[in-house]
Amino acid sequence: MKKLHIETYGCQMNIADSEVVASILSFSYETTASLQEADLVLLNTCSVRENAELRIRRRLKELASLKKKNKKLVIGLLGCMAERIKEQLLAEEKTLDFIAGPDAYRTLPKLIEEAESGRVAFNVHLSEQETYDDIEPVRYDSNGVTAFISIMRGCNNFCSYCVVPYTRGRERSRNPKSIREETLRLFEKGVREVTLLGQNVNSYFWANHEMNTDFADLTESIAQISPLLRVRFATSHPKDISDKLLFVMAKNPNVCHYIHLPVQSGSNTMLKKMNRVYTREYYLKRIKKIKEILPNCAISTDIIAGFCGETALDHQETLSLMKEVGFEYAFMFKYSVREGTKAAADFIDDVPETVKLKRLEEIIALQQHLSLESNKKDVGKTFTVLVEGISKRSNQHFFGRTPQNKVCIFPKRNYKIGEYVTVIITRCTAGTLVSD
Ligand code: 5AD
Ligand code: SF4
Repeated sequence: MKKLHIETYGCQMNIADSEVVASILSFSYETTASLQEADLVLLNTCSVRENAELRIRRRLKELASLKKKNKKLVIGLLGCMAERIKEQLLAEEKTLDFIAGPDAYRTLPKLIEEAESGRVAFNVHLSEQETYDDIEPVRYDSNGVTAFISIMRGCNNFCSYCVVPYTRGRERSRNPKSIREETLRLFEKGVREVTLLGQNVNSYFWANHEMNTDFADLTESIAQISPLLRVRFATSHPKDISDKLLFVMAKNPNVCHYIHLPVQSGSNTMLKKMNRVYTREYYLKRIKKIKEILPNCAISTDIIAGFCGETALDHQETLSLMKEVGFEYAFMFKYSVREGTKAAADFIDDVPETVKLKRLEEIIALQQHLSLESNKKDVGKTFTVLVEGISKRSNQHFFGRTPQNKVCIFPKRNYKIGEYVTVIITRCTAGTLVSD
């Protein structure tokens, strides 16, 4: 068997995609964590922000020296970046033997064959149907306890700053039967937590002659596989998260009370320009509803600092919204122009870099404070934690997560990985709960 080394950049969707790729190639390749012993190296890339692309460009330069030593080494680039700048990449990056976009992975064996015979190959065709429904992902980097399951692909939202609808194509949902079967097989192998993945899971929809399945129905049917299986999901768009889903979460104790609900900005002017199609007031109303139905639900978010035309006042509105919600966690970014998007075409990227950075730093500092405040409230409380593995900092401790998705460190005792344990929180930092 030849050896395949995959490096995955960007989001959880990409991790799930790399597992599909490993499966498609599993007839001729087995995966390896070692770059040195690889016959084929694949970079599964991300285009969402400029930084991600720059990192991959640097990685390609490093791989060039490896290729000089091993002439037979084949290097391919997958994912969003392949889709976005195909011709340019092939012209500029001589290290690359082939390129495959996110909907072209079934053709990988053919692309590799062409590359091996000396032709530069690419397939970046986007599909309206492809969901890799029938492909059982190979979970080559798994802890055996948690797994990602892709339930849909693409995005139809066209937020004005975002390149995803162009790189991943139109939204399409996967057959619920195959999602359920995949989850069942994982559960039988010992997996105790699945995260259902999509760019906008709340618009998941599947219909056939027998019945319709929306995201709340799907979540409930996955939760019913076993009370021992935890169910999580990401990402939710504020415009689509339904009360029906909140009630499913309230009714099924194994659906974790944690929602990732990207707000992006606290200013209505920015939200409108971003094409988020909700207002600050609407977002806050949804948060109120979540807390009403699920009082102990944790909420995380995504925030962009320094979008086109953002004033000091707009920025203050983001900070005040963060305080009002009291997010448990946030992914925070400074705006970077993405070619091909509406923002790139119609708006001026006029917030100076220094101002963007300063605003981002303020957002990060505030979130650090909010996370610590939220964690402090958990000290003295008891949580059920799924044991995921040995703590990075001490081999005498395990780590796992609470239903609210907070990382928790606790002594190993006679616990086992994959087991649920009850822990009492004795202290915390902004990033971790600790049980002594
Ligand atoms: N600049 C900065 N952040 C971006 N995101 C998406 N596009 C951009 C961009 N052009 C962020 C959003 C999104 C997350 C996945 O990445 O916050 O929710
Ligand atoms: Fe991008 Fe908006 Fe779709 Fe998220 S919902 S992937 S930010 S277009």
